[in-house]
Amino acid sequence: MTTLKVLTYPDTFLEHVAQPVKNIDENILSIIDNMAETMYKFEGVGLAATQVGIDKRIFIYDYAQTKSDKKELVALINPEIISTEGSFNSEKEGCLSVPEYRSDVKRAAFVKVCATDKNGNEINIEAQDLLSVIMQHEIDHLNGKLFINRISTLKRQIYIKKQKKKQKNE
Ligand code: NI
Repeated sequence: MTTLKVLTYPDTFLEHVAQPVKNIDENILSIIDNMAETMYKFEGVGLAATQVGIDKRIFIYDYAQTKSDKKELVALINPEIISTEGSFNSEKEGCLSVPEYRSDVKRAAFVKVCATDKNGNEINIEAQDLLSVIMQHEIDHLNGKLFINRISTLKRQIYIKKQKKKQKNE
């Protein structure tokens, strides 16, 4: 397995809308393995293929590890949000592609997601709370959106200014 490089803002590939997966072959399975290696290494809860420069509609997450020491990796291929309900404030959301920044984000409270798993079976997930945030955050990535696209312009500008200062000092 290989650890992949995680792209960070303002890399323009993060704005790319990823292509659907046509066949789940060896290549796709190895992408998933490498994404898993990368997500665990950088201690992320989820990771989308576009974050590692791969143009495929795939994301992985491990929700179990947020509640216990148990690891339970899930890979979703061609995920789609079927329906949403309500709204809530996702507190201090963060992202491996937006280092050293967290912000509250308004998200749907419940989502229903339909996807294909790595064995080619259709799966349906009904999610709330953190799991619902993971679904929305990662599917956003596959649509070229970061959580900082969902906060106020003022907050986003403060983050961008900070990043520019940091880059100058590097
Ligand atoms: Ni992210």
